[in-house]
Amino acid sequence: MGVTKQTIAIIGAAGNLGSAIAKSIADGNYRLLLFDRTSERLDWLMDDIQANYPDAELRSMDCAYDCSWEADIIIFAVPHRAEKEIADKIREVATQKIVISTANPVDQDLSKLNGEQPPSAAEKLQHSLPNSKVVKAFNTTFADDFENLIIAGKRLDAFIAGDDDEALQTVSELVKTAGFNPIIAGDLTVSSTLERMQLLFR
Ligand SMILES: NC(=O)c1ccc[n+]([C@@H]2O[C@H](COP(=O)([O-])OP(=O)(O)OC[C@H]3O[C@@H](n4cnc5c(N)ncnc54)[C@H](OP(=O)(O)O)[C@@H]3O)[C@@H](O)[C@H]2O)c1
Repeated sequence: MGVTKQTIAIIGAAGNLGSAIAKSIADGNYRLLLFDRTSERLDWLMDDIQANYPDAELRSMDCAYDCSWEADIIIFAVPHRAEKEIADKIREVATQKIVISTANPVDQDLSKLNGEQPPSAAEKLQHSLPNSKVVKAFNTTFADDFENLIIAGKRLDAFIAGDDDEALQTVSELVKTAGFNPIIAGDLTVSSTLERMQLLFR
């Protein structure tokens, strides 16, 4: 008997990171719900995934609320400044669900962190979604590098942080399906360290 597919919502799916994540897990045992506010780019992404992974189960959505309502795991792949507004819209349908924070709140030229520090973007998202299980993930690799995750014969590490053990294991599996070597770095407070790693990527 097959294992039940988890449903993953990606909010900001047509962006650089959102589309890289979607493509990297499209051949996994997941059902993907893709939402972005620019439907044209979302259509291109759908076509691209369907051409490369004909068996992928995916659907484009036109509303973050519906997308999150149907999902088991919700990935925020939008700029940090957009997260609060989206969190407010989906709060009631994100209860008890895993919410993945990918945001690195850095300046446009990636030279320094912006805004007041701490708390981290992930901790702020947890504050906005108190009944969800926020996990930091997918934020320590550039979207362009998702296509080449083995360097010198070694699989790239991906760091994960969160407070809920079961959620951390679930996200580890997801990150592994995406092609990374998952490393649990600690609880959600460790997110501020993971977000600062962006400053080393330039
Ligand atoms: N790109 C990377 O390599 C990378 C690496 C690590 C972490 N991250 C993190 O990933 C997140 C996304 O970055 P990105 O580079 O993928 O940015 P991006 O290419 O600009 O994609 C963001 C997507 O979110 C959409 N969006 C923005 N505001 C929205 C809203 N209010 N409601 C719905 N959708 C909205 C954007 O739509 P519009 O185009 O219409 O604005 C866009 O499609 C950021 O938090 C970033 O820190 C990115």
